[in-house]
Amino acid sequence: MKYDLLELQDAMRKVLKPNRYVHSLGVQYTCASLAMCHGYDVVKAQVAGILHDAAKGYSDDELLRRCKKHEISISNVEREQPYLLHGKLGAYYAKSKYGVEDEEILQAIIFHTTGKPEMTELEKILFLSDYMEPSRKMIPGLEEIRKLAFTNLDLAIYTTLHNTLNYLKSKAQTIDNTTSEAYEYYKGVINNKR
Ligand SMILES: [Fe+2]
Ligand SMILES: [Fe+2]
Repeated sequence: MKYDLLELQDAMRKVLKPNRYVHSLGVQYTCASLAMCHGYDVVKAQVAGILHDAAKGYSDDELLRRCKKHEISISNVEREQPYLLHGKLGAYYAKSKYGVEDEEILQAIIFHTTGKPEMTELEKILFLSDYMEPSRKMIPGLEEIRKLAFTNLDLAIYTTLHNTLNYLKSKAQTIDNTTSEAYEYYKGVINNKR
């Protein structure tokens, strides 16, 4: 399929708040850089990047309402923390509003919020780009992840999940099972490679 990246940018500029739009552009270009580095399709990576937060602008109630309307399943953790649903709803909009049929792109959008075990290359690229794009505020460990993403994808994923879980624990936030499972999985991958 042929994608018009300018058209997708234009669409996101209309639905997202300015700072969220700048973030999405940052994710798009970081996805492109990582795709170049790791030999992945540069256009597909950018489509995932620019569209990944297509459903980010909604309130919790609105996210729940829209997911119900489109018969998107809602887990208990998602009911407690509806912002997690913007991945699933974003993928739904990527398909229904922006014409993306590619399952690899849609899956990457779904899982960008939590990560998961056995991520595809695009899932890894998007998950990391979301975390490290240039407009993200500097936090401990970010510099290291920005380097690792270009040299060792799995170690970068492991380190990101590790830091994310620590952050969520420090805020006493409920942690999505998928994120904990992803962490355990990548811990195993890293230890096996050592
Ligand atoms: Fe997001
Ligand atoms: Fe994002």
